[in-house]
Amino acid sequence: MNLVGNLFGSSIGRKILMAVTGLILIGFVIGHLVGNLQVFSHPDKLNGYAHFLRSLGPALWIARIGLLVAVVIHIWAATVLTLESKRARGGEPYGVKTWIQATLSSRYMRWTGVVVLAFLLYHLAHFTLGVVQSDTFKETEALRHYKMTADYHVLGFTVVRAGSEVLDVHRMVLLGFQPLVVAIFYIIAVGLLSLHLLHGMDSLFQTLGWRNARWARSLRTFVMLACAAYFIGSAAIPGAVLTGLLKPVPVTPSVAAHP
Ligand code: HEM
Repeated sequence: MNLVGNLFGSSIGRKILMAVTGLILIGFVIGHLVGNLQVFSHPDKLNGYAHFLRSLGPALWIARIGLLVAVVIHIWAATVLTLESKRARGGEPYGVKTWIQATLSSRYMRWTGVVVLAFLLYHLAHFTLGVVQSDTFKETEALRHYKMTADYHVLGFTVVRAGSEVLDVHRMVLLGFQPLVVAIFYIIAVGLLSLHLLHGMDSLFQTLGWRNARWARSLRTFVMLACAAYFIGSAAIPGAVLTGLLKPVPVTPSVAAHP
């Protein structure tokens, strides 16, 4: 069998696929969070960043397709591996405690995974497609446009110039979290995603063979701290809107930019 056949056609290959796609998705969610945390800075930052990403054109589409492929392979491999391990056990417990633990963790991974997927579909409709965006934002031209007050740089290169008209993603996010139920839904979803990452990263290190007697405890501490930091960073954004720490700047229809 060739490499692709081995990866897709054997249990160990599917475990490797789970690990590699998991790593890609972890990389994405961390990068996405770092970008989103710019919401706490001047609106030029998040708006310049979002405009820069959108201006990447074909490169952005390649990254989007890559992510989609990673999500599909991750879900497929998880489903096949779960069915296989159920079939291999054939109802014969190999130790009740281990069996209960295995069943609980795969169930918990399945449910947290399903909720994260449902969240993602809502999230794309919310911020990327804008179909569930607040009516005020959708219908008021002045709310959507933002005039950059300073240049936006990436790696020292000016990628968006001061004076450019860009989409006001900063305001879109702040208005998007105004409804209490939406902000709470996001906090719950990123909480479940953090739990999913907690177990996922443990399994990843297991697959890589790093969870040996020497490293197991340090890795567990690292994974727990990383997931807690991810949760705090992600929940902080809807949380700050919920508590009034971040407020959309009021705009009169004739004023397009933030002061
Ligand atoms: C508080 C948490 C989050 C905030 C504030 C946030 C914010 C945003 C915003 C503003 C966009 C649209 C950017 C644009 O079109 O210019 C976006 C897109 C996106 N977000 Fe999030 N996000 C959050 C959490 C997440 C999580 C947890 C995931 C993954 C599970 C995620 C996955 C995505 C994806 C896949 C896109 C589409 C990217 C693209 O258009 O190529 N986001 N997010």
